[in-house]
Amino acid sequence: MSEPTGAARRRGPFQVGDQVQLTDPKGRHYTFTLEAGKNFHTHKGSFPHDELIGAPEGSVVRTTGNVAYLALRPLLPDYVLSMPRGAAVVYPKDAGQILAFADIFAGARVVEAGVGSGSLSSFLLRAIGDQGMLHSYERREDFAEIATQNVERYFGGPHPAWQLTVGDLQDNLSDTDVDRVILDMLAPWECLEVVRKALVPGGILCCYVATTTQLARTVESIREIGCFAEPTAWESMIRNWHVEGLAVRPDHRMIGHTGFLLTARRLADGVEPPLRRRRPAKGAYGEDYTGPGSESGSASRG
Ligand SMILES: C[S@@+](CC[C@H](N)C(=O)[O-])C[C@H]1O[C@@H](n2cnc3c(N)ncnc32)[C@H](O)[C@@H]1O
Repeated sequence: MSEPTGAARRRGPFQVGDQVQLTDPKGRHYTFTLEAGKNFHTHKGSFPHDELIGAPEGSVVRTTGNVAYLALRPLLPDYVLSMPRGAAVVYPKDAGQILAFADIFAGARVVEAGVGSGSLSSFLLRAIGDQGMLHSYERREDFAEIATQNVERYFGGPHPAWQLTVGDLQDNLSDTDVDRVILDMLAPWECLEVVRKALVPGGILCCYVATTTQLARTVESIREIGCFAEPTAWESMIRNWHVEGLAVRPDHRMIGHTGFLLTARRLADGVEPPLRRRRPAKGAYGEDYTGPGSESGSASRG
């Protein structure tokens, strides 16, 4: 049985064409591609790539200036944070949440928009595997090009489960029987009508948005379109810890904000969303409310 796409490049001794991540004595990372006969240069000397070709992962190389570098293959979280970017990437902590709470499974049929730099596409492709289907939509051709290069560099070539269409999701989405739709874009509410048609009953819509105003408009628009169960919204924060002898404490720095996530499940056709048991907070939809569903709100039923 052949190995899943990309798996051969994730294990075994270093080979020509592998990505290598070096860590210097100060913990800084440097990523490059192994090429026979080439040298890796630092401001403290160089070493030949040939020293790593055939060596096990976790080897240490020394430059001509006697500085030691630890050599490992970059993990996907390392890779997406160091790859060339068009648009801002989905951070690994959020990609992990999406894989878990949008319930991305091996063999799933997934639609994603926008593609940006291809960070989330790479996580999704790895989770669905060669038997799944990921159809990604990106309105900007230059971003689609960057994403293609990033994804193909990671998997060592084209991924058999990936299809990329350049164009707006709301004008181009024609896939049906889709298990999961993941939206990372400015205005997910503009796509709800086509997403409604694409998703299977029980399928999941997952949106990643950067601001509270986008979050509110997306949730209210999902409620208003009427074919989804009550959405769930959340954010995640990771606080790393410094652990050294008696100095065990949270790191001084953390990534305070990336974005908000929400999921909502597609109901069967013709089913009304069950009434919510908890009433909205008093005043939530009072006279100051101007969002979807209000007289001055702009979103409407599809
Ligand atoms: C923040 S980036 C996506 C980053 C990507 N998820 C990643 O992990 O690298 C948002 C992208 O959505 C694209 N976009 C916005 N609205 C879109 C739409 N309606 N259809 C397709 N692409 C869209 C933008 O061009 C942009 O590249």
